[in-house]
Amino acid sequence: MSAAHTTSRRFAYVCIALVAALNLLGAAAFDVSLYDNVAVYWGQDSYGATHSDVADYQQPISFYCQDDAIDVIPIAFVNSFFGTGGYPVLNLGNTCNSTTNGYFNGTELLNCSFLATDIEYCQNQGKAVTISLGGGGASVGFQSDSEAQTFADTIWNLFLGGTSDMRPLGSVVLDGVDLDIEGGSETGYAAFIAQLRTYFEGADKSYYISGAPQCEYPDEYLGDALDSAWFDMVYVQFYNNPCGLQNFDDASGYDFGIWDIWARNVSINPNVKIFVGAPASTTAAGTGYQNASQLETIAIYSRNSYPSFGGVMMWDASQAYQNDQYDLTIKDALVAAGSTGFTYPACSAEEWTSGSDYPGGSKVSWNGYIWESKYYASDEPTMNYNGDWMPISACAGTAPTSSSPTTSTASSGTTSTSATATTTSTGTGNCAGVAEWSDSTAYTGGSEVQYNGDLWTAQYWTEDDVPGGSAGVWTNDGACSSSDVAARAFAPPTPAPVAPRSKSRFFRL
Ligand SMILES: *[C@@H]1O[C@H](CO)[C@@H](O)[C@H](O)[C@H]1NC(C)=O
Ligand SMILES: *[C@@H]1O[C@H](CO)[C@@H](O)[C@H](O)[C@H]1NC(C)=O
Ligand SMILES: *[C@@H]1O[C@H](CO)[C@@H](O)[C@H](O)[C@H]1NC(C)=O
Ligand SMILES: *[C@@H]1O[C@H](CO)[C@@H](O)[C@H](O)[C@H]1NC(C)=O
Ligand SMILES: *[C@@H]1O[C@H](CO)[C@@H](O)[C@H](O)[C@H]1NC(C)=O
Repeated sequence: MSAAHTTSRRFAYVCIALVAALNLLGAAAFDVSLYDNVAVYWGQDSYGATHSDVADYQQPISFYCQDDAIDVIPIAFVNSFFGTGGYPVLNLGNTCNSTTNGYFNGTELLNCSFLATDIEYCQNQGKAVTISLGGGGASVGFQSDSEAQTFADTIWNLFLGGTSDMRPLGSVVLDGVDLDIEGGSETGYAAFIAQLRTYFEGADKSYYISGAPQCEYPDEYLGDALDSAWFDMVYVQFYNNPCGLQNFDDASGYDFGIWDIWARNVSINPNVKIFVGAPASTTAAGTGYQNASQLETIAIYSRNSYPSFGGVMMWDASQAYQNDQYDLTIKDALVAAGSTGFTYPACSAEEWTSGSDYPGGSKVSWNGYIWESKYYASDEPTMNYNGDWMPISACAGTAPTSSSPTTSTASSGTTSTSATATTTSTGTGNCAGVAEWSDSTAYTGGSEVQYNGDLWTAQYWTEDDVPGGSAGVWTNDGACSSSDVAARAFAPPTPAPVAPRSKSRFFRL
């Protein structure tokens, strides 16, 4: 209710009644831990930048908060950190301008305080609203950590829980900060986040830090911060890049697996959520747009393959709405796939073996992932975006070991004894999510385990009876199939097109 004091007491009562009504309707608060969140940028009117039907240009932010499509709205953008008077510059496309709304005295900082009630409406609908810094063509960056810390103080006072005579969005307290840094240098962002988090820790509400790196790992501008600062959400831009959604079926392309390993193994927040960043229409980005059914396929595949998956990010609200409410379609698909719970696919591919040569398109299990070779590979699969292997799914359980290790040379790479040929065998047991047998676990009748690459079912209560052993307690249901993994139809690997990286955003000034 923090906007109410700027208006009449009567409005405050109306506002309280409104909030009460919304609470009765059960607008659920944003929950970062879920698997079905949709983040959609608002502010830059991407639709208006690429169309001429003025009536369909970007609407007020509350327009996009009337249904359950969107969970998080980063407001785009603070596009210059140090403008006139040393204050940041805010640009909200067609929504606020200097002629009508004006700058705060001595700055080029727009006074868009009329948006406060509009934004509060979104928050009362259970949506988190953050301020996004950067964007394509922005003037951003720090000379030092101390400059970044001071800037964090400024952002806290202008947009978050601090106070200032100049509040660009009025008294509304936003829910966090998004970093869409596409230029400048890496300096200072980790210090910026650390400083903000000192404020967050003493606050009486939840604040979120998100980042929007390019899909190429590591990110040129946010790489340092991603590795050393606390992020709650990472909206990976799978567009305008060779690793984009257009190359989903290519082991040299779509690299969510690399980001999943980053989330679980590198990030200082082991529960950080990774979002599939997507253009919301053909005109929202240079490459990467997929029709709704294909984005659903990609999103659900990723949701079922990577525990760090948090949902889908889209650029931007104006485009999504005009594209048959693309965001709502995807949200519905994510909800249907389940907002909680993750079952690890089985490590159904044969374990990688040192000294073996694998032709392109081979699949192996290694280090908790299934990997596909981009081309002829003999190196160990590692988290290397430019390496021989791409992680194509997280997995659990012991992988079957190779019965006949491949030692083929380049000329025999297509023989049937290759690792590929034996990997996706015609097993009948669905081992997805089934744990490996353990000699110290008691199993009741009907329990399933994996053992030696097969699926087994206990006939009655048992402990320390090895599947296939003389006690005969376990029924063999056949070799584990790779059905869960094979659900993603991989095209024969072709090198990803080497497209020059273009600006990720159409930036409307
Ligand atoms: C500024 O915003 C007002 C109100 O939305 C609009 O009528 C006007 O055309 C805008 N001016 C410019 C220069 O964009
Ligand atoms: C804006 O700042 C200038 C210089 O500090 C001052 O002279 C002027 O009165 C200020 N205007 C307003 C409207 O506060
Ligand atoms: C900002 O704009 C509002 C009108 O939307 C006005 O009431 C307020 O005085 C302005 N604030 C400053 C500091 O100029
Ligand atoms: C995760 O980190 C551990 C410890 O550094 C390492 O052994 C393991 O290989 C890593 N996993 C992957 C998939 O890179
Ligand atoms: C959606 O995209 C997929 C993949 O590009 C394509 O196979 C499919 O035909 C498209 N569907 C429609 C309805 O356009």
